[in-house]
Amino acid sequence: MAIAPDRNLALELVRVTEAAALAAARWVGRGDKNAADGAAVDAMRHMLSTVPMDGLVVIGEGEKDHAPMLFNGERIGDGTPPEVDIAVDPLEGTSLVARGQPNALAVVALAERGTMFDPGPTFYMEKMAGSDDIADLLSLTDPVEDVLARVADRRGIDVGDLMVVLLDRPRHADLVARIRAVGARIRFIPDGDVAGALMAVRPGTGIDLLVGIGGTPEGVIAAAAIKATGGAILGRLWPSDDAERADVVAAGLDPARVLTTDDLVRSDNCFFAATGVTDGDILRGVRFERGTAVTQSMVMRSRSGTVRVLDARHQRSKLRGLAGTRYG
Ligand code: FBP
Repeated sequence: MAIAPDRNLALELVRVTEAAALAAARWVGRGDKNAADGAAVDAMRHMLSTVPMDGLVVIGEGEKDHAPMLFNGERIGDGTPPEVDIAVDPLEGTSLVARGQPNALAVVALAERGTMFDPGPTFYMEKMAGSDDIADLLSLTDPVEDVLARVADRRGIDVGDLMVVLLDRPRHADLVARIRAVGARIRFIPDGDVAGALMAVRPGTGIDLLVGIGGTPEGVIAAAAIKATGGAILGRLWPSDDAERADVVAAGLDPARVLTTDDLVRSDNCFFAATGVTDGDILRGVRFERGTAVTQSMVMRSRSGTVRVLDARHQRSKLRGLAGTRYG
């Protein structure tokens, strides 16, 4: 007998990411990333409290740069079942918003309680992500040159045809030199490697692979999306100094271990929602028009594999009546 599908929480979560995106979008280009983040966190927190769930924040936001937070360990939702783990990134790409650059997103991921990887004290993770057809070729232990050669071979193209996306950071100097030495092309992004991972796994973006070191929370969130949309991500914790390495080991984590998509999110029933804040490769950003604000979001559920893209037109005066000035 077929099991009746239970509630698709991603459809509730999209209201949460829309709210965060609407609030953050007021800050585009205004040079204040903490204010943008604060607005997104406040709006997200406000809306999360209405979602029918008993949520535990496993991946909170803000510790890295002392930004406003939805704290790890915080309970959110209206307290009714189901019990879930939540990863929040109210504003993924705070500097992108401050500078009016592309690909800033408001993001939430949710999975059954106890199934999301807890990164403990580690801020950074080495990552590699790619779509389904090359998922078995990804590796963080083989030389990147070999991975690139295998991907090009599988796709029947030259290594020089490949496009790799990575964060523009000095820590990637060696990786960049090696990718360039084999002739692959690079798209540097200033921030936002959740969008980078989505570009690597979604069709039609022109990106073949995400590589490089980015935030650990962003790695777990990307894994939740990838479980629904297909593809794979590998991660390996990257403690940035000896003290952090000692903390990681003391927390019972193994910095040498390569984590798979399933290690990062064990549940096969996870949900992901993202709304564009600034225009990007995956989603359009918030548009303010006379009387309305227009958002574009993507929602996914891993059990069904359904990916929905939702355009929404919000009546600004009605929103203000409901939620004060939060959403402009
Ligand atoms: P914020 O939105 O918290 O500013 O993070 C943006 C981001 O670029 C992430 O996408 C990425 O994983 C991480 O920061 C990289 O960290 P760093 O900027 O320290 O290299």
